[in-house]
Amino acid sequence: MQTAINISANTQYFINLEEQYGTTNYHPLPVVIEKGKGVFMYDVDGKRYYDFLSGYSAVNQGHCHPKIIAALIEQSHKLTLTSRAFHNNLLGEYEKFITEYFGYDRILPMNTGVEGGETAIKLARRWGYTIKGIEDNKAKIIFAEGNFWGRTMAAISSSTDPSSYQNFGPFMPGFEIIPYNDLAALEEAFQDKNVAAFMFEPIQGEAGIVIPGEGYLKGIRELCTRYNVLMIADEIQTGLARTGKMLACDYENVKPDMLILGKALSGGVLPVSAVLGSDEVMLTIKPGEHGSTYGGNPLACAVAMAALSVLKEENMAQNATVMGEVLRTELRNLQSPFITAIRGKGLLNAIVIKHANPEAAWELCLALMENGLLAKPTHGDRIRFAPPLCITKEQILECVQIIKKSLESLAQ
Ligand SMILES: Cc1ncc(COP(=O)(O)O)c(C=O)c1O
Repeated sequence: MQTAINISANTQYFINLEEQYGTTNYHPLPVVIEKGKGVFMYDVDGKRYYDFLSGYSAVNQGHCHPKIIAALIEQSHKLTLTSRAFHNNLLGEYEKFITEYFGYDRILPMNTGVEGGETAIKLARRWGYTIKGIEDNKAKIIFAEGNFWGRTMAAISSSTDPSSYQNFGPFMPGFEIIPYNDLAALEEAFQDKNVAAFMFEPIQGEAGIVIPGEGYLKGIRELCTRYNVLMIADEIQTGLARTGKMLACDYENVKPDMLILGKALSGGVLPVSAVLGSDEVMLTIKPGEHGSTYGGNPLACAVAMAALSVLKEENMAQNATVMGEVLRTELRNLQSPFITAIRGKGLLNAIVIKHANPEAAWELCLALMENGLLAKPTHGDRIRFAPPLCITKEQILECVQIIKKSLESLAQ
């Protein structure tokens, strides 16, 4: 089995430019996109594709959502950046909006998701020293195996994936890694009084949509409260309606001490991230101790408020729940011998491919591309199926037919 793909001269031209002048830190599918609208993307030859990745869940609201783009255009004519050296008239409004939206006292605005993670760790360490009373330079943050929260030195220092950390040492001290979905291991780690926080994903996204057992999130909440450790939920991928609730933590009605958001906070328009928390935690950082030139810029504030409004106005969490059910049911009905697992919540889903060819998941993605659907493998054999949350039932059914046809190519 080798998927035959036709790459046009036009497409090849753009790929060649990237290959000649870019750094080889990604391995994209051989498709060049020039336009996006709702659940669709269009390549440079005008071919239409269903987007089953949604920019790794940044485009939950659909590509170029009119309301979000209108907010971007309107604000971009007025003011885009002041830095935090001066106030701007949108930051406070946005801070009020988002803290009320999620029920937290305060926000610290950043840009990329990984900066959100870095910010949460700094806040947790500061809280550990100044509130919990941890001895200087002894603070520990606990992470779970299989986590992914970005590519900075701190993020790779907590990673268990060799492709993230190999040959990039030395690493950040003060991190400990325990198994995911293991409350006993968490409680054991909490015996150390220097633990300031546990940072985790409610569903592990990059690991291949790994869903913990029921009660895990509640268990984390209880242990964090009992041992005076901060619960930091990284909802950068799971949050903002992706899993069928506004936050994945809502499934177990737990409120983390710190919530990290990113990706769909701008609907895929700009890098916008945020850390939300209580007065007790957030006020430990004083002027000059943390920040970012672009963090809290007025353009991001306008876009984020529009992006959050769209999620509620268009009932995207509910649509994700219903469409996710349809997708998983229809995929199961295919009874493909090449799919060993179908899992997910809402529209954060993955299939696991079993085939004699270790490249089968990649080959399947090429076949999907040929047939008009874009998805990408993660960790070799897992393919994430995470379309924008505005997808309709009719569209899901069409996508399942594309998947069915593409799976047939694995039999050849
Ligand atoms: C759970 C999670 N946290 C953090 C990040 C990092 O976000 P960014 O790539 O915007 O830095 C990602 C990116 O995939 C993620 O999935």
